[in-house]
Amino acid sequence: MPQRYRWQFPLMALAALALLAGMWGGVLRLGWQFPPISVRLPAQHGPLMISGFLGTLISLERAVALNQYENGRRLSYYLGPLLSGLGAVALFFTLPTAVPRLLATLGAAGLVWLFVIINRRQPTTDHLIMGLGALLWLTGNGLWLSGAPIFRVVAWWAGFLILTIAGERLELGRVLLPRQRVRQLFVGIVVLFVAGLLLSLVTFGAGLRLAGLTLVALGAWLLRYDIARRTIRRPGLTRFIAACLLPGYVWLMVGGLFWLWQGGQYMAGPYYSIMLHTIFLGFVFSMIFGHAPIIIPALVGAPLAYSPLFYLHLVLLHISLALRVASEWLLWLPGRRWGGLLNMAAVLLFMGVTAVAVIRGQQKRASKG
Ligand code: HEM
Repeated sequence: MPQRYRWQFPLMALAALALLAGMWGGVLRLGWQFPPISVRLPAQHGPLMISGFLGTLISLERAVALNQYENGRRLSYYLGPLLSGLGAVALFFTLPTAVPRLLATLGAAGLVWLFVIINRRQPTTDHLIMGLGALLWLTGNGLWLSGAPIFRVVAWWAGFLILTIAGERLELGRVLLPRQRVRQLFVGIVVLFVAGLLLSLVTFGAGLRLAGLTLVALGAWLLRYDIARRTIRRPGLTRFIAACLLPGYVWLMVGGLFWLWQGGQYMAGPYYSIMLHTIFLGFVFSMIFGHAPIIIPALVGAPLAYSPLFYLHLVLLHISLALRVASEWLLWLPGRRWGGLLNMAAVLLFMGVTAVAVIRGQQKRASKG
């Protein structure tokens, strides 16, 4: 592994720790009688997953990309992921609630700062959209810091992830943009989504309903214009990536429909869980599974050997999520509990399969060189 990548590992380890602790908190919240590890975990499940895991990882990815672009090693770019990772660690300890919230907010500010630099150098639609996503994360964390309950904040967190992913699909050049009007439609949907979030500050239910409607539109747009519809017919890794993206877009639409339908109920309980996890697991994690073979080599500086085993975690994720969502809808608690546990199993399997793929990739490279 090249020397210059090695010191990024502590930050990746912080993100992985937040993911594992967050998932553990999630299954405890479903009622599984597992060792609690820390009594604070169940209540901190959401912040651990969003800021601790995804915020740290997304900020790290941007810091790495910016450093590569500049051909340098500016440590200050890593301040954002460090702060959000430390914010996750602070959630384990009995500290004033403002401490982890402030760290997470500063971490989000760090990502916004990275996007200001990126947009100055390369002012493109995709960078603007991802920068807007970072701003939503900062707003959500700012609301959380000011004492807002998580259910009031979580739509902003969802917006952060949704815009980051939509922007990345544009950035990776994998979305076909044949006409200016199609691009404008995309921007229009994003603007209306943000308008829905802003409206939710005044009238919560109406704002979320508007945001939900735009998520349905965004999912349909991505299904229609992403190159995945074509690449699904190709072999190997290209097909696998498309097989992650397409169901992810469908889950985004399903989640949007629930936001549209249940808007004001966005607080707690099974329907709340459907509104969140259709997006966070169905859309976001499916995208993570699909983007990992592209992003991980850049993060760790090692190639990744594709294997058809990748389909195992993908299929498990979608089947277990379908079980969980259907059970939550029907208020069938055993199905909900098992679905959630298998969701965690799918993510753990993904981590294991990916680690093996990195090791195999390195071995292949070593045997060639
Ligand atoms: C891996 C398996 C997961 C399990 C078992 C799980 C479980 C849960 C449960 C039981 C709730 C409470 C819902 C309620 O009020 O009834 C919840 C809420 C939540 N989940 Fe998950 N979840 C998982 C994955 C995720 C992921 C991947 C994310 C984000 C990327 C996420 C983010 C959230 C958030 C933000 C909340 C709201 C927290 C709150 O209101 O305090 N979850 N989850």
